[in-house]
Amino acid sequence: MTIEDRIQHLLDKREEAKLGGGEKRVASQHSKGKLTARERIDILLDPGSFEEFDMFVTHRETEFGLDKQHYLTDGVVTGHGTIDGRVVYVFSQDFTVFGGSLSETYAKKICKIMDQAMKVGAPVIGINDSGGARIQEGVKSLAGYAEIFQRNIMASGLIPQISAVFGPCAGGAVYSPALTDFILMSKENSYMFVTGPKVTKTVTGEDISTEDLGGPEVHVKKSGVAHFIAEDEEEGLLIIRKMLSFFPQNNLEDAPVTECSDPIDRKEDLLNDIIPVNANQPYDVKDIIQSIIDYGDFLEVQRHYAQNVIIGFAKFNGMPVGIVANQPNFLAGVLDSNASRKAARFVRYCDAFNIPLVTLVDVPGFLPGSAQEYGGIIIHGAKLLFAYGEATVPKITITLRKSYGGAHDVMGSKQLRGDINYAWPSAEIAVMGPAGAIEILEGRKINEIEDEEEKALFIKAKEKEYRDRFANPYEAASYGYIDDVIEPRNTRFRVIRALQSLATKKDTNPPKKHSNLPL
Ligand code: HXC
Repeated sequence: MTIEDRIQHLLDKREEAKLGGGEKRVASQHSKGKLTARERIDILLDPGSFEEFDMFVTHRETEFGLDKQHYLTDGVVTGHGTIDGRVVYVFSQDFTVFGGSLSETYAKKICKIMDQAMKVGAPVIGINDSGGARIQEGVKSLAGYAEIFQRNIMASGLIPQISAVFGPCAGGAVYSPALTDFILMSKENSYMFVTGPKVTKTVTGEDISTEDLGGPEVHVKKSGVAHFIAEDEEEGLLIIRKMLSFFPQNNLEDAPVTECSDPIDRKEDLLNDIIPVNANQPYDVKDIIQSIIDYGDFLEVQRHYAQNVIIGFAKFNGMPVGIVANQPNFLAGVLDSNASRKAARFVRYCDAFNIPLVTLVDVPGFLPGSAQEYGGIIIHGAKLLFAYGEATVPKITITLRKSYGGAHDVMGSKQLRGDINYAWPSAEIAVMGPAGAIEILEGRKINEIEDEEEKALFIKAKEKEYRDRFANPYEAASYGYIDDVIEPRNTRFRVIRALQSLATKKDTNPPKKHSNLPL
């Protein structure tokens, strides 16, 4: 063989690998509205940046006639490339090869890039589209999954891990995405469940479709398992690119600061009037978020789940932050179990990756009732408390309106090592709201008044007295729990100044094996 022949042989093999399971299966993939594993990588990464590993890997199975079926890559495309010039590692499951099912060698390919990503300190993005364990490989496939899970666990908090689900993701296979930081699902074709509809029917008798059991709507609205839903795969891949623009490469780096032309002292006069005079009237906290951040550009996370708390990424003068905000427009912004878990996980992600936290507070308290108590709101609320208290990143809290009871303490209060705590003049910081307080403090007197009109007047007067005395920011400010009461229209500037002053903040937790988060 001449050297030319050898080079031609290499090029032919590369072409063979790129065909995956063959033209027919690629056509079938396209006919479902799905992209191939390689097309997805092309959209995800900077053009021409992909360097592939293990293109020539094939499986080693000989049973079930597999000795006669070999496909180069063995069903998963792996390697590294760049996003906005920064290195990322990627694996993309190829449904055209054995339904993207996972073999021993396939698992090894994923483990190889995960190991290297951890050594290099670069994010891993996994694109899932797979029939699960390769049935012919039996326990070797299960072992392969466990190897990946172990690496997901070791990489957690070390490098960002992001999962896209663009096809089936079922059985134990769901646990790799579940161990990563963010899951994105495409609107069409994607589903995730531990047990599929057929087995569900056999075991429980429940008759349910794939879509209703584990489709994207289920996971973004009901279970909260998925953080993003994308109209199509391309949009999903672009969301992942955007997400990474807020993240450092690893836990030892600071979040990436970019140039910003949005003026830091941009005053937003509208904010001075945004809080309704009536304390029970809702408003949309997203209007406040959008008006104070750079260019109004907010990447909301878990937009459709537990909407009483809003979480997401934004920048202030080019500095990435994680925003947590109570949403008065939904359940009056009350904290319930789902909202607490949602915000807690987000706070911990930001803390793990050195992303400062900006918290906007308007919370009437924790949601009362047996449903919440039986559902363990004590332990779920504690998660959020724990997350804030444990976080050592810069923490800036702005109380917009209500900040009552335990929820006041939880939402980034001074005593949970809040670095800079501001309040708007509309803030009401107290043990509880006026109605509840008066019922308890004046209950006996209220019961003694027989005339209903007189009773109502008495309650109104007492509530006013309470509001004047406690429902303001100055009581808390007089103890130094609030560092300053700020004019709403200056909020952007004050937050930027606060972030600048905290840029070199150092804080630590005592050395220990790990904490015992109330799970
Ligand atoms: C081997 C598989 C496979 C698998 C699909 N294929 N799943 N090969 N192992 N798990 C192959 C098919 O034989 C077919 O090969 C090709 O992939 C495409 O599959 P189709 O069934 O034709 O595609 P579609 O109709 O789109 O259905 C997709 C599917 C279905 C819903 C994913 O294939 C399916 O139900 N597969 C089995 C899923 C499953 O039970 N997996 C094991 C789960 S347990 P040809 O040659 O015809 O193209 C598990 C445990 C993990 O994963 C535990 C971790 C701890």
